[in-house]
Amino acid sequence: FQFAHPVNEPVLNYAPGSAEKVALKKQLAAFKAVEMDIPMYINGQEVRTGKTVDIRPPHEHKHKLGHFHQGDASHVTQAINAALAAREEWANTTWEQRAGIFLRAAELMATKYRAHMNAATMLGQSKNAYQAEIDSACEIIDFLRYNVHFLGEIYKQQPYSPQGIHNRVEYRPLEGFVVAVTPFNFTAIAGNLPTSAAMCGNVVVWKPANTQVYSANVIMKILIEAGLPAGVINLVYADGPTIGDISFSHPDFAGIHFTGSTGVFQTMWKTIGSNINKYKTYPRIVGETGGKDFVIAHKSADPAVVATALARGAFEYQGQKCSAASRAYIPSNIAEEVKKILVEQVSSFKIGTTEDFTNFINAVIDEKSFNKIAQYIDNAKKDGQNIWVGGTYDKSEGYFIHPTVIETKDPKYVTMCEEIFGPVLSLYVYDAEKFEETLALVDSTSEYALTGSIISTDRYAIDLATKRLTNAAGNFYINDKPTGAVVGQQPFGGARASGTNDKAGSMLNLYRWLSARTIKETM
Ligand code: ALA
Repeated sequence: FQFAHPVNEPVLNYAPGSAEKVALKKQLAAFKAVEMDIPMYINGQEVRTGKTVDIRPPHEHKHKLGHFHQGDASHVTQAINAALAAREEWANTTWEQRAGIFLRAAELMATKYRAHMNAATMLGQSKNAYQAEIDSACEIIDFLRYNVHFLGEIYKQQPYSPQGIHNRVEYRPLEGFVVAVTPFNFTAIAGNLPTSAAMCGNVVVWKPANTQVYSANVIMKILIEAGLPAGVINLVYADGPTIGDISFSHPDFAGIHFTGSTGVFQTMWKTIGSNINKYKTYPRIVGETGGKDFVIAHKSADPAVVATALARGAFEYQGQKCSAASRAYIPSNIAEEVKKILVEQVSSFKIGTTEDFTNFINAVIDEKSFNKIAQYIDNAKKDGQNIWVGGTYDKSEGYFIHPTVIETKDPKYVTMCEEIFGPVLSLYVYDAEKFEETLALVDSTSEYALTGSIISTDRYAIDLATKRLTNAAGNFYINDKPTGAVVGQQPFGGARASGTNDKAGSMLNLYRWLSARTIKETM
């Protein structure tokens, strides 16, 4: 059987008076009018423990959106058991049937529940309408449709059979269960990690970030409506160490699909390593773990192009994209002009709630994150760094931090090296004649290697940067901001401390969830 080749889901523009804007406003109001009671989903059943955690919009923390029911060790065990009980039937469900469920889910997200997906992401994670649309509508829909397409392509790959022999490869799921641990910053990533593994015939225990439960609940309900059988994906809200302790010491643990911090991923890897003798099979370890993404401009660059790449790359979604530009290297010949345009652009950003569609900057995710970012800003001031714009914050109503640009004379200053995960851009002005030395500096300070950009109109400089920064970014952009990878166009992921580089939304990722069997039959 063959599907039409997918195309990217069109991004709606939410123009005043548009049908999509009316629907989204209505859904935002509907969500705000009720306190939602959010259960876990284990073996297709809603599970309520009575031990609840409140959910509040980061930009309006006095308002309660609802609460979720928190699970403990017993729920993790139940989820694993449910997954294992569902495993055989799911693994033997035909690929065509499995594909139908995920394509149906994508269709529901594109139509009936588009406003639900976006409103939940806008309220729960403080994304503006555009940032929600490209994430909780387009990107998650693209992940589902493209992964179905890519998996279909993988299944078609069969070995050569000479006369008298029949060779074939069966792309089986892993022998056991997969754990998906997902982040707050992209509803699409949260949805992709459990579904990409499940699509391949695996059964999954899914633990989202507490700060993304509100939209995870919408995804789960859509998957159930689309026909996902009980036990295939079990959504559990237990704390990370509890999930880890139980899953990673289970003999049937077959893989972890993770997006989150480097520290957590390294702890998981060590735990899995120390338990290696307990498992039936070597678990697959797949993780995307943050970045310190760079923009380097060459002396030939147009200052307006540099400033715009920085303004959007660093501050969209409050700098909370793992791909966000967080350090920049600006040549001295255009530094003044870049500063003028960048400060002008950033000062024009309106800050506030997501329900007011004119706001460009919303809140950072929670108080812990707010405090951490504020500390970096305070330290930079104390250290005498030059604040071009921003540098202030206010958490009285929501966790608002003004987009901040810090110029430092020390290219190894802490804000040039550490991941801040907020609206803070650090910038170093280099001697415009020392481009090659600056490329070496960028590479040697790239402990992470997720995304990066070169801005230049000089082909030689572009080629040199592309070559010298080979290992400094898994996604490398020429004359663009380093964010906004599109599924099917720019497979996404990085190496070094940024992860295992198993590009999300590509065949490279799906191969990790398959355990092939080769069969040779002699005629
Ligand atoms: N895929 C997201 C981006 O490229 C993280 O911005």
